[in-house]
Amino acid sequence: MKYGWITKQDADIIKKHLILLRQKFEPLIALEIGTYLGETTRFVSQYAQTTYTIDNDSQTPELQDSNIKQFIGDSAEYTIHTRIPAPLHFVFIDGCHCKTHVEADFTNFSPKVVIGGIMIFHDIQPSIQTQKTRVELRIEVKNTLKKIIPNSWDLIEEEYSNESPHGGCAVYRRLS
Ligand SMILES: C[S@@+](CC[C@H](N)C(=O)[O-])C[C@H]1O[C@@H](n2cnc3c(N)ncnc32)[C@H](O)[C@@H]1O
Repeated sequence: MKYGWITKQDADIIKKHLILLRQKFEPLIALEIGTYLGETTRFVSQYAQTTYTIDNDSQTPELQDSNIKQFIGDSAEYTIHTRIPAPLHFVFIDGCHCKTHVEADFTNFSPKVVIGGIMIFHDIQPSIQTQKTRVELRIEVKNTLKKIIPNSWDLIEEEYSNESPHGGCAVYRRLS
């Protein structure tokens, strides 16, 4: 089984929450930000009846599966995020990891998530933030989440490995 750029540990967390959500919500509707090659998209779509996926890179291959709806564009752009309908039950955020986008993705998509729904933010591994490469400097997920997530969302699980330079998941559930 291919998981894309996520580890087996990350995939297990995603799968666990999708299976739990499927017991409560039918049909289950998921959104992924950051399609890349579509491997995590296909993984999520095994558990959801509909999976929306957004990527701003036009090189992302077209996904033909009938239960996947693909959007090409910047997730923070009004013309993109407004095309994703509510309700959403599961959101996996793995697009741009800079502060502006993490905040915009939460602000724009969280109101569409039902109470009891889940948002998982990827690449929370904090050690990445101290590395001095051009791309990795933009990874500010963990610090941004601490500042922006309101009390109406509960951090129910957080996982990352100090041995891995990237990855890790923060799992939030909507309470109210
Ligand atoms: C880490 S990859 C996603 C990997 C994928 N989830 C997987 O594990 O196979 C991040 C993706 O986010 C996309 N991306 C970056 N900034 C974005 C933005 N502002 N809006 C939408 N997608 C974005 C990139 O083009 C890239 O394909």
